Amino acid sequence: MYLIALDSETDFDGWRKAARALALHHVTPMEVTWSVQGQAKDLVPPGLSEAPSLPPVETEGTFNVPANFVELARVAILHRDSARFALLYRLLWRLKADHDLLATMTDPDVAEATVMAGAVQRDVQRMRDLVRFREIGREQKAHYAAWFEPEHHIVAFAAPFFARRYADMPWSILTPDICAHWDGHAISFTPGISQKEMPAPNRLEETWRRHFRHDHPITPEAPQKYRRNLSEASILEPLLADAERWTGGRMNPRPETPMKRKTAADDLEALREEAAHCRACHLYKDATQTVFGEGPKSANIMLVGEQPGDKEDLAGHPFVGPAGQMLDRALEEAGVNRKKVYVTNAVKHFKFVPRGKIRLHQKPNTPEIRACRQWYEREVSVMQPDLIVAMGATAAQSVFGKITPIGKNRGRLIDLPDGRKALVTVHPSYLLRLPDPEAKALEYRRFVDDLKIAAALQRKSAHAA
Ligand code: URA
Repeated sequence: MYLIALDSETDFDGWRKAARALALHHVTPMEVTWSVQGQAKDLVPPGLSEAPSLPPVETEGTFNVPANFVELARVAILHRDSARFALLYRLLWRLKADHDLLATMTDPDVAEATVMAGAVQRDVQRMRDLVRFREIGREQKAHYAAWFEPEHHIVAFAAPFFARRYADMPWSILTPDICAHWDGHAISFTPGISQKEMPAPNRLEETWRRHFRHDHPITPEAPQKYRRNLSEASILEPLLADAERWTGGRMNPRPETPMKRKTAADDLEALREEAAHCRACHLYKDATQTVFGEGPKSANIMLVGEQPGDKEDLAGHPFVGPAGQMLDRALEEAGVNRKKVYVTNAVKHFKFVPRGKIRLHQKPNTPEIRACRQWYEREVSVMQPDLIVAMGATAAQSVFGKITPIGKNRGRLIDLPDGRKALVTVHPSYLLRLPDPEAKALEYRRFVDDLKIAAALQRKSAHAA
């Protein structure tokens, strides 16, 4: 009997090395007990004070396993079932004799490993859907933390996605198994914590759980449009492709419970309602209300401004004050029908300082833009626009997830990582503030020219419809 104690629950390299050595020594699956360091003592077979360790691989001999088995094993090993190491070794052992074994979906070992990989894949997606950071610490030294309870050992596997997506903010994802931390340069890990060590969930997170916990199934058969939600540098796309490959398209690893899919309008209303109670930053305290985005669910263009102004804050609608009137005029001249676009802001609460009877607009800072970005992301996710127009620096920061200069980027279509297009232009308030009439007229023309790019896209999709 051989006892193999892997370094960790996710020690794929250790498993692979041991499995190869065992197979080369013709050690049958029945002769191997697999465990993880620290758990090994309980598993030592009775009568043996210490299980024998693996003999060194003396032979130069080798054997090949199909590449898709390695990929399958790499994902399935993240499953929480302690039988996974043995199952994968059994498969490896059997593959030596039957190279095409994975094509036999009726085989119980193949089916079990595929189901495990599917469960891991869904858990990764669930993490991506449910992790919501909340600001902790002081404004100058903001840090963002999220609590998540994974079903499987996916945290280290999923962490690079969050590092790419939230590259410019320091965050921690705290889980009972392991905690992942990003400092803007590298990911590090510390042992898991209990939820008691995490502040109690706030209302936002509760609402999030209630509305979204089961609403975003991603399976290999999910429509392409929905898959686009998976956004930039998706680690899931290869997984989805793999699931199709392992199963030859014959097996759809479905979520355990049947899902009812909502319409875009339902989702938008749920988001609006949730955002009305947003406490992700301090701006809600002085603002009258959350000013959420508006537009028909068929809109394929999303216009993003900075934040509601005084008038918008009181009315509860975006771009209804002087900047809104300037925008309306420019849109009309450019040939964009405002009724057919979705209009929103990077920050959804009015930030101001009172000066006597007036409320003076204040530019939102980076922590405020970050705190609000979840709403923008979720609007994009529901609306699925083809083109996102970022008006001004705050909007551009939110759309690109980093500071993006207007002058260098304006007036041309830019590819976003999720396949959409972005267009950067100035904010209409900038035009309102220009004192020189000539400069104002010139800048207004440039603004209209930028918007003509959006008009062309709107016309194109109207023809296509
Ligand atoms: N400025 C913005 O950025 N958004 C509005 O809604 C109004 C003014």
